[in-house]
Amino acid sequence: MAEFDLVVRGGTVVTAADKARCDVGIRDGRVVALAEGLPKGKREIDATDRLVLPGGIDSHVHIEQKGSYGITSSDDFFTGTRSALFGGNTTVMPFAAQHKGQGLRQVVEAYRDLATPKAVCDYAFHLIVSDPTEQVLGQELPALIKDGFTSFKVFMTYDLMKLDDGQMLDVLSVARREGALVMVHAENHEVIKWITKRLLDRGHRAPKYHAISHARLAEGEATHRAIVLSELMDTPMLIVHVSAELAMNAIRDAQTRGLKVYGETCPQYLFLTAQDIDKPGLEGAKFCCSPPPRDEASQEAMWRGLENGTFQLFSSDHAPYRFDETAKLSKGPNAHFREIPPGMPGVEARAALLFSEGVRTGRIDIHRFVELNSTNAAKIYGLFPRKGTIAIGSDADIAIWEPDLERTITWDDLHDNVGYTPYEGKKVTGWPTIVIRRGEVVIEGGELHAERGSGAFLPCSTPEPARPRGRFTPEMDPARNFGAQLVE
Ligand code: URP
Ligand code: ZN
Ligand code: ZN
Repeated sequence: MAEFDLVVRGGTVVTAADKARCDVGIRDGRVVALAEGLPKGKREIDATDRLVLPGGIDSHVHIEQKGSYGITSSDDFFTGTRSALFGGNTTVMPFAAQHKGQGLRQVVEAYRDLATPKAVCDYAFHLIVSDPTEQVLGQELPALIKDGFTSFKVFMTYDLMKLDDGQMLDVLSVARREGALVMVHAENHEVIKWITKRLLDRGHRAPKYHAISHARLAEGEATHRAIVLSELMDTPMLIVHVSAELAMNAIRDAQTRGLKVYGETCPQYLFLTAQDIDKPGLEGAKFCCSPPPRDEASQEAMWRGLENGTFQLFSSDHAPYRFDETAKLSKGPNAHFREIPPGMPGVEARAALLFSEGVRTGRIDIHRFVELNSTNAAKIYGLFPRKGTIAIGSDADIAIWEPDLERTITWDDLHDNVGYTPYEGKKVTGWPTIVIRRGEVVIEGGELHAERGSGAFLPCSTPEPARPRGRFTPEMDPARNFGAQLVE
């Protein structure tokens, strides 16, 4: 047997399905052996008493991206992916965001040009489709899907981004035909706009009114409507960043009816509430995101959804905006809540928060953690089995966790460019201290050992939900899927 480049020795290797005390042999960036007592490698890492887990995949991050309010997020592809690595992630999935009037191909090339010289972890792109012209639907999207951009997000709110229901059906029909996955930001635009106007008319300007304007009913209604469109088109759909129980229940109900509807929630909906937005002055702006954190009952509901499988994905929705005039305060010190770009950082703390409050408390087991942290994203977005597991032939993307390490989260110890963390002062137990990316030890001893630009671009194949299963075809259920038949 040829020599290993690296052997991770004596740890507890855990995947979504299995757990074994064994060594991991790595050669040419891939896992080539899993066994006890492997021969010595060129390099050895002692993982005794530690957990050897697949590198995290944070499948919803905004990096160097012009956002829904026209402000560019504060992490570039170096700082954002560096922060990801320090949090035990080896892959992130940012967005190539189309704004109205832009061609999609040109947008993708611009984001790839930003990422190539800077990224230090691997990355695949989702698209954001905000202008589904005939050219986009008929030519650019199909061609980009073939090139490995197999998931795209659409918005039901935000003036700059929103699609109407007909446009959503158009996008869904392309996804159906080409085998891609549509991700939906589900909030009812008109409801938010109506409440916002009345709040502002009455002089309610503070950040806390952001949460009031983004009512949970608005999220619940839009989630239900999006699912109706998905059912009509007989096409899978993922509802991203779910915060409200009403929305979660709509997803659960669709799944119970056998629809391929998937759900994602995020740390801010487990660990923060609308109370955090109610801070003096504009301080609450740091906690404004859409949908907003809700209340403790909603937190409990989101945990339930992670435990019972309603949510397949746990992503940070890292949408980093500095608390200064470049981002959160770009409209000045007297900005009202509608002028604060929504979003908060979380890529570095995401996995540790879930491990500490999920696994250590017994809410989820370690295998469910691995699924939520890594495997499900790889499967759902078409990166599995190259990514998302520790198996022979997979990329050697590994995070070595110290399960008993106690840390207090503070921004001074993080590696993003944001200047604050919404989790300041939160105590967690368990943190990944060694991170291996395609066989290279990139985080060790609290230091980054990766060259700028060494992160690899990952084309995605057809997402697992979009692969035909031979069920729910128009022929089998003509009453339900007639929308799909109209585009056959
Ligand atoms: O408030 C949020 N989540 N900002 C990021 C953009 C988005 O909608 O995902
Ligand atoms: Zn969104
Ligand atoms: Zn987002």
